[in-house]
Amino acid sequence: VTPTTGSLSTYLALPKAVLCVSHDSGIIQWIEEDVPSSLLQDVLAKHGITGEDVSLVELETGEFLIPGFIDTHTHAPQVPNIGSGQEHELLDWLAKVTFPTEAKFEDVTFARKAYTSAVRRIIDNGTTTCCYYGTLHLEGTKVLADIVHDFGQRAFVGKCNMNRHSPDYYVEPSAEESVARTRAMIAHIRSLSGSPSHALVQPVVTPRFAISCTPELLVQLGDLVAADPTLAIQTHISENAAEIVFTKSLFPPDILPTPPLHQGPKPTETTYAGVYDAYGLIRSNTILAHAVHLEDSEVKLIKERNAGISHCPTSNFNLRSGCAKVGAFLDAGIKVGLGTDVSGGFSPSILTAVQHASIASKVVALSAPEHKHTHPHAAATSIPFANRHLPIATLLYLATLGGAEVCNLEKRVGSLEVGKEFDALVVSVREDAGNPNLWGLDLDQALGRTSEVGKEELQAMLERFLFCGDDRNIRRV
Ligand code: GUN
Ligand code: FE
Repeated sequence: VTPTTGSLSTYLALPKAVLCVSHDSGIIQWIEEDVPSSLLQDVLAKHGITGEDVSLVELETGEFLIPGFIDTHTHAPQVPNIGSGQEHELLDWLAKVTFPTEAKFEDVTFARKAYTSAVRRIIDNGTTTCCYYGTLHLEGTKVLADIVHDFGQRAFVGKCNMNRHSPDYYVEPSAEESVARTRAMIAHIRSLSGSPSHALVQPVVTPRFAISCTPELLVQLGDLVAADPTLAIQTHISENAAEIVFTKSLFPPDILPTPPLHQGPKPTETTYAGVYDAYGLIRSNTILAHAVHLEDSEVKLIKERNAGISHCPTSNFNLRSGCAKVGAFLDAGIKVGLGTDVSGGFSPSILTAVQHASIASKVVALSAPEHKHTHPHAAATSIPFANRHLPIATLLYLATLGGAEVCNLEKRVGSLEVGKEFDALVVSVREDAGNPNLWGLDLDQALGRTSEVGKEELQAMLERFLFCGDDRNIRRV
């Protein structure tokens, strides 16, 4: 089962497909659809493969392949905090719950232990590509990158830049020190993983959010990324109402530099996106998390810069931030993926993000009266996504190929297509996977007719898995 390049509204469900991966390169060589068992040897022979060259993995009825999940926004040091302090909104939650825990990662021994368990848990949940925030600590963040690299997960790892509006015990002493540590982190990660075009683990410049960075720091980070177009950038944007008011007060338009790509007169009002843009931090390899309360001009700017949005619905509900208008972003042609945003979000699983992305789109639809109760089966490409529920195909896309686009990895991963890296999960909805939430009439029927799992049964299995599945149903990563 795979999304396909160029369509957000359809996906491929191919029962009895044979997919061939090169053992040497890990690249998908060919895919043949509808191959009955009796013809398997013929198909292999057609591709010049004899018994000795091949190791054959056959999936059982009730098992299928999907591309690995992509988490475009999470905080590795917050995994120990999952499920605590959820009575707060963003700024209180940072001060009371998050910063005290992150400060502990100054202790490298603690960091190694906590990160090892966090990364293993994230991989077990089927996330094969992950955009990680570390803490502000250089050594701890290097340890995170080492662990991710040793596990062989594809990832972006960033050390938080934060030199103001943070507690005394958890703040960087100066812009210079923050940037020097960032440079050291970049050098360390590149020494692990090699050239950006093939690296599994890549560095990402991570100004935590505008509030925690002085203008001097943002200027220096802007210079750093301007000198290296391959450097990815990640940050938070427009998550919470109080945060937005504070951001605008810290960056009145007269203190902002004129952005390099800016045309026309200087704006008289600041927008959140306009702040980052003024420092050259919004570009095609920038990942913007949340985007709950974007103004129209910000949506336009993000599209113009071809930056990506990480939709973090679990966190947006949990911290009472709001519902991002994902349908409108998709209509605008913006790249969108999903983020767990642990521990603002209380689950490290992209499946939970899928479920909450569906609910968030339904909440948006409910509050748009003109669209209420229309398009019950909307799936056609011609129907705009704004103000309606996201179809299954779109949810699958957000969890995989959409995330790959946000990370600029769509040529390498995100779908099961010839020429891409084989980066996939074996999903099992079988009874012996041990998840009773998935057992139900249509599935039982599908599984009962052992040799007869067709496209429709496979689609039913996917929907059940997306909404009721968990890590028990992810057999192999
Ligand atoms: N904004 C700044 N830092 C954070 C964080 O750690 N989590 C979330 N959700 N938003 C933030
Ligand atoms: Fe976050």
